[in-house]
Amino acid sequence: MPPAQHSPHWHILGAGAIGSLWSAYWQQQHFATTVISRRHSGPRQLELIAPQSRFAFSQQQLTAVDLEQEIQQLLITTKAHQCLAAFNSIQHRLSDDAVIVVLQNGMAVNTLPTRAQQRLYAATTTDGAHFKNDKTLVHAGQGETYLGPINAYAKQLPADALMQQLPSALHLHYCLDIEQRLWRKLAINCAINALGVKYQCRNGELISNAAIRQELIDLCQEISMVAAALELGPWFDNLYQEVAKVAQLTHNNINSTLQDINQGKTTEIIALNGYLCDIAKSLQLATPLNQALLELVLANSPAQ
Ligand code: PAF
Repeated sequence: MPPAQHSPHWHILGAGAIGSLWSAYWQQQHFATTVISRRHSGPRQLELIAPQSRFAFSQQQLTAVDLEQEIQQLLITTKAHQCLAAFNSIQHRLSDDAVIVVLQNGMAVNTLPTRAQQRLYAATTTDGAHFKNDKTLVHAGQGETYLGPINAYAKQLPADALMQQLPSALHLHYCLDIEQRLWRKLAINCAINALGVKYQCRNGELISNAAIRQELIDLCQEISMVAAALELGPWFDNLYQEVAKVAQLTHNNINSTLQDINQGKTTEIIALNGYLCDIAKSLQLATPLNQALLELVLANSPAQ
């Protein structure tokens, strides 16, 4: 069925599994989507295998240079370290009142130079998706996605206007404390990812191996100290318990930073433990465990 005449057209910056997942669900509800990526490709036929459904969708990939249309709605799903450069590459195509949703790890959303009437939102998700091959996308785990306003203009507008435009197949929750949610995800990533790289292990081993578990507990204490100085709230006081829950739920996962290293890709470590160490420095707090892990990951990564 062709897209409904007045349905929104979402542009997606970042052609990874999560961006493609949103694209598939938007198409299922007859919204048009265009993926902006570093490589141009004509329309491709893909299949989504999801927990409750299975359907075909098409993906049109353009480079930023090939874009001609004005962008009214933009979803950014790049890696954190690519976010600002990718945004700058399509800035000139964004309408003055564009809606921009940034769905990624870290806090790069706060660095985007948006215009006064552009609405900026951030989102964080526990959805799991991966490409089984270049034609098959798998929505492996139905997670929860929290989404909320970042800039003043987004904060003024009612949630419904945005929520009606988002994929209804996803479990989406609008929240006004999105910064707090981003910090929770950041803290979990700071605790799990680099330690997983150090021990080259799946998430579950971080809690099942007593020696690694003690290191994780100490690391969580250091992260909690920074969160306390920022007055981020009581959730961070029991960080190890929260991290242990995630490590248990994802015990079979190889975390994304270790996956990046194994695939010779640039990691997000500067946006994770690197960001935490920078904040700690600005507060004159010492974070030697995070600093050592940051250096260890950088030493094992391709050029950042
Ligand atoms: O980065 C990751 O891999 C994930 O965010 C998480 C939650 C640590 C699970 O592997």
